Amino acid sequence: MKRRDVLQLALTAAALAPLGRFAFAATGDAWEAAFLDAMADEPWLLGYLGCDDRTFEAAAEVTGSWPAALRGSLYRNGPGMHSLGGWRYRHLFDGDGLVQAWRFGADGVNHQARLVATHKLERERAAGRRLLPGFGSLPPDAVGVTGADDLNPANISVLPHGDRLLALWEAGSAWALDPKDLTTEGLVTFSAETRGLPFSAHPRLEPDGTLWNFGYLASADKLVLWHFAPDATLKRVKVLDVPRVGMPHDFMVTRHHLLLLLPPLYPEPGVDADTLLDSLRWHSREATRVLVLRKADLEVAGEMELPAQWVFHYGNAWEDEAGVIRFDAARAPDPLLMTESFRELMRGADADFTTSAARPYRYRVDLRAGTAVEEPFADMLGEFPSVLPRHVGRRHGELVMLGRHAGDQPRHDGLDRVSVFDLEREIESSWRYPDTEMPEEHLPVEAADGSRWLLGPALDWASGYSLLRVFRLEDVAAGPVATARLPYAVPLGLHGRFLAG
Ligand SMILES: [Fe+2]
Repeated sequence: MKRRDVLQLALTAAALAPLGRFAFAATGDAWEAAFLDAMADEPWLLGYLGCDDRTFEAAAEVTGSWPAALRGSLYRNGPGMHSLGGWRYRHLFDGDGLVQAWRFGADGVNHQARLVATHKLERERAAGRRLLPGFGSLPPDAVGVTGADDLNPANISVLPHGDRLLALWEAGSAWALDPKDLTTEGLVTFSAETRGLPFSAHPRLEPDGTLWNFGYLASADKLVLWHFAPDATLKRVKVLDVPRVGMPHDFMVTRHHLLLLLPPLYPEPGVDADTLLDSLRWHSREATRVLVLRKADLEVAGEMELPAQWVFHYGNAWEDEAGVIRFDAARAPDPLLMTESFRELMRGADADFTTSAARPYRYRVDLRAGTAVEEPFADMLGEFPSVLPRHVGRRHGELVMLGRHAGDQPRHDGLDRVSVFDLEREIESSWRYPDTEMPEEHLPVEAADGSRWLLGPALDWASGYSLLRVFRLEDVAAGPVATARLPYAVPLGLHGRFLAG
């Protein structure tokens, strides 16, 4: 079929062992060849090489003193397999979801990782090549699609939900996995009426177990809201008409409200584009809208405006007695990291990761006054904000982010530091990673005895292995108390969740 037909269908659908340096021989695909060439000069690109179609399993070698009370599983997800049949994806976000489990138990630290056996991957495995378009990739001779889940790579995050582990994308359904061995159980349908509705990769779990999520239907200008009880049963779903809803990636909850920022990035009707990514337009003169919804009736409580900005991730939101909402986020001036840099990265081109990189910002939203204001709170780059699970939707004392200080010049293009901000005393504590390592999202967690830790996965690209570090949340600057090292490298992932036990 014609390329434009494929895109049109995609838009319609959206509306509803060691990696080894040389695991992939260069083929006729120019992007594959260019990436392998670039990696010879920039070995940190190992993190984005991608794995082949395999399962990872190993006991980690632990050095230091692993906290005895820290038992449970850190589940993570991210784009894992970027190349199949000698053809490489054109965007970082298209790789098949690789779900990992780091398990901390009496027998030490064990690791496992498997690709999610989505409909898409099963069809492509059988064909021995890519068949379906992705967010920013269109393989040669692509086939048509009938719905968003035909394209769903389940590659952004994970969520323990009831007795299942969900692998999450953002434009389609969740995939269910068996948390014990990460085998894929199937596409999730929460109810007959909600079959196929998008379920984003950033649900918010309140301390009492109540779960909220959203989904967007970009070309239909609709926003889906999901509300689950602590026992994982679906309580409410609502579909709202929201003009120019775009592609919000994350959202927030407070005691009484749900919040989304709607940056002015949305598909342009009638654009001649090969992929959904190519159809998006950034409207830099338009506002980023702040949409506040009431939990009680899932109706709009207010809409305010901020200058145009792109935000992938929020730390946390809370509201005071007067109803004023505060939140923090990793704020970028525009979405160029996604629309350009993460595309160029896939062919190893010298992508600029810093110009449009996010910085730590805090916000104040006054519903009664109808105002939203923002300010930076640290002069540095920052991404992957996170807070302790007990603070979700409540006032939080600290915020964890990956960062990069002005003047730091690591031997790779990523962030190189983990920072813990004491928001009340306005102090940043941080630990800088060795230049030969690239940190991934770090999560603050609580052990069964109430002790507080920071879990930090990273890739040692120089030695070719992945690792997981544990820091005391109260003293990250002292460095890790323990490090678990794998005998292999796993592709750099995106998001995770810790399940104590
Ligand atoms: Fe994300």
